[in-house]
Amino acid sequence: MRERRITLLVNGAPVTRTLAVESLLRDFIRDDLGLTGTKAACDDGMCGACAVHLDGAPVKSCLVLAVEADGRAITTIEGMGRPGALHPVQAAMAEAFAIQCGFCTPGMVMTIAAFLEDNPDPSTDQIREALVGNICRCTGYVRIVQAARAAAQAGRALRATRAGLASDPAGGKP
Ligand code: FES
Ligand code: FES
Repeated sequence: MRERRITLLVNGAPVTRTLAVESLLRDFIRDDLGLTGTKAACDDGMCGACAVHLDGAPVKSCLVLAVEADGRAITTIEGMGRPGALHPVQAAMAEAFAIQCGFCTPGMVMTIAAFLEDNPDPSTDQIREALVGNICRCTGYVRIVQAARAAAQAGRALRATRAGLASDPAGGKP
């Protein structure tokens, strides 16, 4: 078995490990790092349950070798938010009751969050298209799409508020 030492950022923290060159990024995340929010399901890139961000871009971690992440930054669902300080997409998913068993939810959140970074004002069809690689067996997708729309709206409102504060730091006060 050939091994290689890799160093990468995981949710903002540096990590160094020696691992088999054929290790999947998904298995490295789950088994070596214990970050089991990233789910293992189909093993062939079909379900999206294993989605993480690699240098900010969404990837299906069952299709990426861990050694490919050497020198790069990955974000898993554990790095997105926490109880009391949810990521806007997590908050929107909860608000919309877009979660049943929850197995697909981490992958959905990672995919939607990355999509909204590039598409802050998407149409419903664009959201549906963005989620074509994420399977949910419970919800029927309607509420997940609603959550993505709500998260997009919240993101636009936040950006507008920040832009207003930047142009008028006193917030209109004399
Ligand atoms: S486990 Fe990676 S896409 Fe299904
Ligand atoms: S909530 Fe169960 S698979 Fe999506």
